[in-house]
Amino acid sequence: MEFTVEKTKTPKARPTDDSKLGFGHIFTDHMFMMDWDQENGWHDAKILPFQDVPLSPAANCLHYSQEVFEGLKAYRTADGVVQLFRPEENFKRMNTSCDRICMPKIDVDFCVKALKALVELDAEWVPKTYGASLYIRPFMIATERNLGAHTSTDYKFFIIMSPSGAYYEGGLAPVKIYVETNFVRAVRGGTGHVKTGGNYAASMKAQEVAEEQGYSQVLWLDAIHHRYVGEVGAMNVMFVLGDEVVTPELDGTILPGITRKSALEVLRHKGYKVTERQLDIEEVVEAYKNGQLKEAFGTGTAAVISPIGELKYKDLVMRIHDEKIGPISQMLYDTMTGIQWGKIEDPFGWVVPVCKLDD
Ligand code: PLP
Ligand code: COI
Repeated sequence: MEFTVEKTKTPKARPTDDSKLGFGHIFTDHMFMMDWDQENGWHDAKILPFQDVPLSPAANCLHYSQEVFEGLKAYRTADGVVQLFRPEENFKRMNTSCDRICMPKIDVDFCVKALKALVELDAEWVPKTYGASLYIRPFMIATERNLGAHTSTDYKFFIIMSPSGAYYEGGLAPVKIYVETNFVRAVRGGTGHVKTGGNYAASMKAQEVAEEQGYSQVLWLDAIHHRYVGEVGAMNVMFVLGDEVVTPELDGTILPGITRKSALEVLRHKGYKVTERQLDIEEVVEAYKNGQLKEAFGTGTAAVISPIGELKYKDLVMRIHDEKIGPISQMLYDTMTGIQWGKIEDPFGWVVPVCKLDD
């Protein structure tokens, strides 16, 4: 399949101050879009000016949340190279999500090609400042005009892009996380391992309650025993217990994060002791009481590496590493962002260059 390119005739003013970008509310000049129906499969692929899209009020996605999405970033190096980080991983994960939500799969190579063309067209929108980047949101929605609660016959796939700064207002400053003991996010056999909007809608109540108490996000526990650590709202989680880095195993209830996978590869590459296993919150508490809870941090595309400075579980407030970033979190942040922004060599072959800008 090929795609057409229609350039905007009215380019927008680009942001001039990267420190004021915030997250996810400014959009570039162009977007990618294609359609799927039973007769034609994927067709009508195009890059076009960023715009609103007409949608029937009866579209399936609006009622039954048949939708999936992804999140990745484009970075600008000091030499002006614009590059992506493991984009094929995102499109492969999207296909896992599509399978679970009964949506048509995409061609990973075609989508990477289309994404590269889109990023190249809007390359000037990739922020220059270290730490700021172009957040990329591929997503797919069910568009059939039908209120029947069944899988749709029609779909649309999009890629939109947003120059963004840090996801958390404090940047690399440690975040405060609330261990959720009432609400639950996912259960085995459900949809916790895929990236679909319904998971996020279902988690907003807990997020709101946590925010009211001054916490950034919640740490989810398993839905049956309210005991085993899962993940945080928009990131996976890792704990340094003594000399071991422990992260919950991929048990079908948490998202297989690409940052998680990459951080584990970096840690193993550098010789750290790393374990993916079931982790009881009581073990974290025990380690805290024994002085063995050395560090805790989240990993995610938007959140990068986010140190956790405070973890509240029931009445216990655990202050971790003096509420300062710890050495392993710092090493991971420096390595991941170093590779992404081209400051250090990429021994893993993760970055995918798109184009080079002159300045
Ligand atoms: N878990 C959830 C629920 C997320 O929304 C995200 C963000 O995408 C992650 C984990 C981290 O995944 P990744 O590292 O692929 O961005
Ligand atoms: C990402 O990190 O890409 C995410 O999708 C998190 C999102 C919920 C903001």
